[in-house]
Amino acid sequence: MGFRTRQIHAGVTPDPTTGSILTPIYQSTTFVQPSVDEYMSKGFTYSRSGNPTVKALEAKLADLENGIDCACFGTGMGATTAVMLAFLENGSHAVVSDVAYGGTYRLATKVMTRFGIEFTFANAADPDAVAAAVRDNTAMIFTETPANPTLKCADIAAISEIAKKAGAVHVVDNTLLTPYYQQALDLGADVSVHSTTKYMDGHNATVGGAAISKSQEHADAIRFIQNSTGSIMSPQVAWLTLQGCKTMSIRMDQQSANAMAIAEFLEAHPKVEQVSYPGLKSHPQHDIVKKQATGFGAMVWFEVKGGLTAGKKLMDSIELWTLAENLGSVESLVTHPVTMTHADVEEAERQRVGIIDGLVRLSVGLEDAEDLIEALEKALDAA
Ligand SMILES: Cc1ncc(COP(=O)(O)O)c(C=O)c1O
Repeated sequence: MGFRTRQIHAGVTPDPTTGSILTPIYQSTTFVQPSVDEYMSKGFTYSRSGNPTVKALEAKLADLENGIDCACFGTGMGATTAVMLAFLENGSHAVVSDVAYGGTYRLATKVMTRFGIEFTFANAADPDAVAAAVRDNTAMIFTETPANPTLKCADIAAISEIAKKAGAVHVVDNTLLTPYYQQALDLGADVSVHSTTKYMDGHNATVGGAAISKSQEHADAIRFIQNSTGSIMSPQVAWLTLQGCKTMSIRMDQQSANAMAIAEFLEAHPKVEQVSYPGLKSHPQHDIVKKQATGFGAMVWFEVKGGLTAGKKLMDSIELWTLAENLGSVESLVTHPVTMTHADVEEAERQRVGIIDGLVRLSVGLEDAEDLIEALEKALDAA
């Protein structure tokens, strides 16, 4: 069945006791067992180890990305942490995209290194650079594409080949395009991680995460860490995310169309120094994205002439766009990564990978494109 059908129906069956069309919020700590010998016979024991509402979302997401299992977490970072703990140990090494969400960089450099795990941040847009970073003890390649915030993109199939040769697990953070536009597992990745906070919820209502696996071995390793560390999604969050997923494709198509119009507007504007959007021909990895994805997403970044000072002025004064962290929601947001989402990436590293001080990140929402452009035009005139 097609993606739009599955995003509504996969994982969800009417409640057998009442007929409720929506999976109920099973707000329960524990599940009564019929007898000692029939322990687990209904599939649930204790909500840290599994919950029916969360399970419905997990089944939906596994289906949408052609995985065999999905584990949902309290946040996207919870998913990334569990995946790193599942596949890395003292003495192992991982190659991570040199541009990645600031929280992923912080987790790797400031938490995982405490346990004797080493990381190399390689230019994921260049498969040769990724291959060159691989060592004998490389156990994981972690690719974020498109990457937050510069929207650098990577060739998932090429990096999957490198990982396979190295005997490493290839994990793709597929948050920005979702399985609707980018089927990371079909392209060769072993595990895809998501911040469901973003396009899957889509309404700025929750924080959540997911890790979707292609093999039982990887799924079991992630589930073991999840049950051991207790990083789970709550039933309420799962329920809200289940509703969000049903309109994901429609929201993403409209938000991406808005993003394309905005990127073209910015590219032609005399006050804009540079603009980046994977859908623009000028984007350095435009052809890779065209080859491996069916859409370009709804994130755009640009630099105003006048750099940081002009950019700050624009972000502080712009109407309609809200200055806030997060992305992927129906509300259009503007973010300054250097002071907000990527503040924990050291200045030298930010400069090395192109997270410039004046970078203005846009998460394009579902409003009328004309209104969004008009607000940008006004703010640019004043900047
Ligand atoms: C690409 C990407 N991955 C992971 C995360 C972390 O997700 P969460 O905020 O749900 O922990 C984010 C958050 O912004 C992100 O942008």
